[in-house]
Amino acid sequence: MPDKHYDNPLTAGINIAHAPQPCTLVIFGGGGDLSRRKLLPAVFNQALDGELPANFAVLGFAIEKMDDAGYREFARKGIEQFSRQALDPTFWADFEPRLHYLEGSMDNPEAYAQLKQRLDDIDARFGIPGNRVFYLAIPPAMIETCVRQLKAAGLVMPVDGHSPFSRIIVEKPIGRDLESARKVNATLSENFDEQQIYRIDHYLGKETVQNILAMRFGNAIFEPLWNSKHIDHVQITVAEEEGVGTRAGYYDKAGALRDMIQNHILQLLTLIAMEPPWIMDADVIRDHRQDILNCLRPITGENFDQSVVRAQYGPGFHHGEDVPGYRREVGVAQDSVTETYVALKLFIDNWRWAGVPFYIRTGKRMPKRASEIAIQFKSVPPILFNADHDQPLEPNVLALSIQPNEGLSLRIATKLPGAKLKIFPVKMDFRYGSTFGEQSPEAYERLLLDVMAGDATLFMRRDAVESSWAWVDNILNNWSSSRTRWIPEYAAGTWGPLEADRLIESDNRKWRML
Ligand code: BG6
Repeated sequence: MPDKHYDNPLTAGINIAHAPQPCTLVIFGGGGDLSRRKLLPAVFNQALDGELPANFAVLGFAIEKMDDAGYREFARKGIEQFSRQALDPTFWADFEPRLHYLEGSMDNPEAYAQLKQRLDDIDARFGIPGNRVFYLAIPPAMIETCVRQLKAAGLVMPVDGHSPFSRIIVEKPIGRDLESARKVNATLSENFDEQQIYRIDHYLGKETVQNILAMRFGNAIFEPLWNSKHIDHVQITVAEEEGVGTRAGYYDKAGALRDMIQNHILQLLTLIAMEPPWIMDADVIRDHRQDILNCLRPITGENFDQSVVRAQYGPGFHHGEDVPGYRREVGVAQDSVTETYVALKLFIDNWRWAGVPFYIRTGKRMPKRASEIAIQFKSVPPILFNADHDQPLEPNVLALSIQPNEGLSLRIATKLPGAKLKIFPVKMDFRYGSTFGEQSPEAYERLLLDVMAGDATLFMRRDAVESSWAWVDNILNNWSSSRTRWIPEYAAGTWGPLEADRLIESDNRKWRML
């Protein structure tokens, strides 16, 4: 079993111990879904694994009517349903006194005065030196109010090396285009120092995503091949089985491009494509990721339709059951043209990646949940084993399976046993489950610990959010300038529209079968 110290590949081998510091986690919107499904189970698992400092507490702040006892019950139910590890009653009895609740309205200054008082009491009781992490699990429209009120109530400490820390975690979406994202960022910057702001993208907390850097820069064999000379193309797929579910209110105004590509997928891309950093420092790594965003070729003009496809799921099947099309989902406008699927081809205009296409696809109501990054290498020359034009050898593919069935595999050619010299593709396979024998921590567990430790490596800096929007805005503008109310459809439970197949097949390539 690996030593705990090496759990995070990004911190492996460095001497600086990033230990979570004593603090109170204040969850705005603490009575909501994110809190129940992700945040409270994450904190519980960290506590169970002994990762949290002894002086640690949680305070949920929300509009729902509840007291501390009610909140503990709310947390217990969420943990029973969503936690990675089971709720052990003895451990729970020790853990639950750390959970607190304050009922209040986000725009009421008095509520913030009460919040300050409660936090001071909690500090005194748990021996916390005034450190606070504010988690904004609230609708985007409330961010500005909450941030200003925190500042006005004197809850934001300066970054001066001796005051307690005040850190703020902001959930996506940060804006819905470049202009609105800039406004959110400006409000954050007026009230917090950039060092105190943690813009969360939960994909960066996934074990398999962190492993991208460990794999690329912890092995000697990949980096020499990691460029346009040897790589034919890259495919990134993030497929979801679920439909829009209960989130139509948000999703119908967002769509797959804003919801998945602007953030999660572009971040995956930066990790795959970035230059090697020379030190595991948050800003060095984020500078290198930023370089990739700066080099993204805008998708505009004549080639637009050959480069981007959007579509929406129609009626179809899910696990053998009939499911409605997107427009028939609860809360979706009946004439909605919101895309639930996007496929696109992009280029990174730098020396390493010149001319290498990156094919991206993401969608809801796909046949299965499967996220993968596949690096397809160039074929061997058409001589020797690859001399038969009718039966070319399958090229090498390094496939990083992000979820589920986390791991990576390398497809290589081998000789089929027997007297004849026949070549057969086989896979060298590594799976987290079978190798490490335990479930990896949830993304939110890793990310919350990083905030408590003051490590911003896995968070989005302001420039990253804005550059991603600038690139995505080109596509959004093109869509909004076309007056058509038509959008291609794919049946629920299939791999997207024919147009997406054409996008890649016109380059003589194929989407991978997942
Ligand atoms: C969220 C999106 O950010 O990520 C959702 O808003 C999506 O629409 C989810 O379903 C996917 O996350 P995961 O971790 O389940 O792949």
